[in-house]
Amino acid sequence: MTKKITIAIDGLSSTGKSTIAKKISKKLGYIYVDTGAMYRAVTLYAMNKHYITSDTFEVEKLILDLPKIDVSFRFNEELGFAEMFLNDVNVERRIRSLEVSKLVSPVAAISEVRKKLVKSQQEMGKNRAVVMDGRDIGTVVFPDAELKLFMTASDDKRATRRYKELLDRGDNVNFKEILHNVQERDRIDSEREDSPLVKADDAIEIDNSNMGLEEQFERILSLVEQRIND
Ligand code: DC
Repeated sequence: MTKKITIAIDGLSSTGKSTIAKKISKKLGYIYVDTGAMYRAVTLYAMNKHYITSDTFEVEKLILDLPKIDVSFRFNEELGFAEMFLNDVNVERRIRSLEVSKLVSPVAAISEVRKKLVKSQQEMGKNRAVVMDGRDIGTVVFPDAELKLFMTASDDKRATRRYKELLDRGDNVNFKEILHNVQERDRIDSEREDSPLVKADDAIEIDNSNMGLEEQFERILSLVEQRIND
């Protein structure tokens, strides 16, 4: 039987981690877990309850509510991927908005939030055969992952990709605002105390500023094959 491995994909925001992770997981028949979606769903909960706005954050209230917050993935056969549900409501579209992107980093810096989500991520990946993307997968969630990747790209390339994505779905967005959000999120995510965004010592860095999806796919697939045959 072919060996099943754990693939951890971390990196800067908007580096196309989820696009490549989905493609790899499909090819291998592995589970794909978008951990950013989980932090986004908790952020949306805090926004709905008015615990967080652009200038206030009632952290204690969110922490008290954590046992009531259920974030789960449900596979959508038609779309071919899993969508995010927050307390049984499909929030897949809403969590991808710029409003959520603007507030997610302070929420993701709360240790209690991380503790809850990391536990669930470890549960989802306990049997291996998983591709998980995020910021702390190779460092905290699965430090023993057989393959760790760290994705980077220039700020401009990343903001351009995010800008196009949001325009395509019909959102009214401004490029400068998106560039600022991408940079600001990376700053907060890298400077936080708990599980900061940092490249694991044994992660392979891939700068995809000038790389197409196919090229990334081939490169990663050959790394996967090496690890499986190790
Ligand atoms: O991958 P994303 O852009 O959807 O993630 C949204 C935010 O969630 C990101 O700015 C930081 C946080 N995050 C995190 O702290 N740890 C993870 N494993 C995944 C995301």
